[in-house]
Amino acid sequence: MTIAVLPSVSVAPSVPFYSPAGNEVALFELAWRLKLPVLLKGPTGCGKTRFVAHMAARLGRPLHTVSCHDDLTAADLTGRYLLKGGDTVWVDGPLTRAVREGGVCYLDEVVEARKDVAVVLHPLTDDRRILPLERTGEELEAPDDFMLVVSYNPGYQSLLKAMKPSTRQRFVAIEFDFLPAEQEVPVVSAESGLSEAKVKPLVQLATRLRALKGHDLEEGVSTRLVIYCASLIAAGMPTAEAVRAAMIEPLTDEAEVKAALVEVARAIVG
Ligand SMILES: Nc1ncnc2c1ncn2[C@@H]1O[C@H](COP(=O)(O)OP(=O)(O)OP(=O)(O)O)[C@@H](O)[C@H]1O
Ligand SMILES: [Mg+2]
Repeated sequence: MTIAVLPSVSVAPSVPFYSPAGNEVALFELAWRLKLPVLLKGPTGCGKTRFVAHMAARLGRPLHTVSCHDDLTAADLTGRYLLKGGDTVWVDGPLTRAVREGGVCYLDEVVEARKDVAVVLHPLTDDRRILPLERTGEELEAPDDFMLVVSYNPGYQSLLKAMKPSTRQRFVAIEFDFLPAEQEVPVVSAESGLSEAKVKPLVQLATRLRALKGHDLEEGVSTRLVIYCASLIAAGMPTAEAVRAAMIEPLTDEAEVKAALVEVARAIVG
């Protein structure tokens, strides 16, 4: 079965807003200059995708994004021969296109992909910087402005899906986490349009819920969800309803846990 991979290629007209948590902007720029591939790891909704979009725009390079999934094979990334009107023609996959065109190629949730993907990434992520296309016999050399960025969420991984050291040790790694509260408040406010004063208790609640990770919750509430919640409130939804819809229901299906979270929310946001 052939699974079409539709990459989104974008050149941002302006630089998307990103509030840095540490030295990641400088580190990424340096990795870019030194032609080193970068690995981003961190929980869902903490700003990894936004960071890559920000960096690509800042560097003025196109961004090629591929969301990896468990059916994604090396051929989906590199390309394949397809039948077109009686002829077989080679069609580049998103990785090949990115290597030909240059820019930042971002493989999101890379551990989800099939094992054979590592084989095409290896020669591209050491000092050879080449992409061999076995099928066409070509060997593409990555242009100077090509950069490979991959991300994954270490929390979700089963042992089976862990990234092999031989792959992992080809990347400079940046660890992401949720922003400290005093920094998350202005980010959520800017993204949602809700005042900082009203965002503050939502971030307080998020911090509290994140502390439950590993106990009652598999994953803490993401910045993305706090932004959803603030956006619902900014659009006129009563706070308690918005909190339930955006910050509680998405976290768990267990009635008891939910009831406990509602209580926590009531105590903090009213
Ligand atoms: N440091 C930040 N600066 C600006 N916005 C941020 C920041 N961190 C998070 N956000 C906001 O949170 C939203 C979610 O972040 P993003 O989509 O980048 O998460 P992610 O880490 O890629 O998550 P996933 O692993 O689920 O793909 C962004 O759309 C953005 O609005
Ligand atoms: Mg993402």
